[in-house]
Amino acid sequence: MMMQDKNQRVALVTGGTRGIGEAVSRALLQAGMTVIATYHSNDHAAQAFARTSGITGVYKWDVGDFDACAKGVKTVEEHHGPIDILVNNAGITADATLHKMQQEQWSAVIHTNLNSCFNMCRNVIEGMRDRRYGRIVNISSINGQKGQFGQTNYAAAKAGILGFTKALALETAHCGVKVHAVAPGYTETDMVSAVPEKVRAQIIEQIPVGRLGHPDEIARAVRFLASEDAGFVTGATFSLNGGQYMA
Ligand code: CAA
Repeated sequence: MMMQDKNQRVALVTGGTRGIGEAVSRALLQAGMTVIATYHSNDHAAQAFARTSGITGVYKWDVGDFDACAKGVKTVEEHHGPIDILVNNAGITADATLHKMQQEQWSAVIHTNLNSCFNMCRNVIEGMRDRRYGRIVNISSINGQKGQFGQTNYAAAKAGILGFTKALALETAHCGVKVHAVAPGYTETDMVSAVPEKVRAQIIEQIPVGRLGHPDEIARAVRFLASEDAGFVTGATFSLNGGQYMA
């Protein structure tokens, strides 16, 4: 088999057209990779992203749906070649205290944020093992590490990602596949903008550096973990939270 130039690696970023995912897509493109970004519903943002980023490999599917992931991965690999790098970034919130949480709020967050990691990894892992190369970066959260009032669903999913990452890292370390988690703190995204103003101000007070993170700061960490420079890293949780939680 012909060796692929490392600069031509194919990277797929789920939820890659907005927020942290968008910054990751752009950072991986800058690193010389072929980047594929998926999204779920915001066509307008996806079109703007395709126009401004120069990334034309933009695909729409639900990462919470196993069959959609199987079909999506197959289509992407037919058009762009095998996926070498997978960033499981897609995520949603449906905040409510547990005594008010509807079953739909629980399921939606678990499907999109946690089941997606199985759905996507399961569909790329055999190829990565066969080719003896792969990088998987799963986006967790500070709130999976410390818990967060109003987020039993989100914290459970994001904590689940940490266990999933470590288990898969153990299974694949010997065949060239490295699996990492990145745990961002509160970052300037639409997700954090949706937190009520008063609560957001209280959160910023709890961040020792005194500000929200920037998506580019998270993206640079993902780019490092996806790079050859991180060859001795696997199963790690890389926390970037301005000192709010020191795991
Ligand atoms: N700690 C302790 N008590 C809290 C609290 C907190 N952090 N936040 C609210 N409370 C209290 C309120 O003061 C209120 O008490 P009183 O009734 O005595 O005044 C009570 O809890 C309100 O409880 P309710 O069940 O009535 O809650 P609610 O329906 O008003 O709304 C909420 C609760 C939806 C969770 C709202 O507080 C909220 O949106 N919080 C933000 C949660 C959050 O940080 N989400 C992060 C989103 S960004 C993200 O997730 C990205 C990432 O990875 C970091």
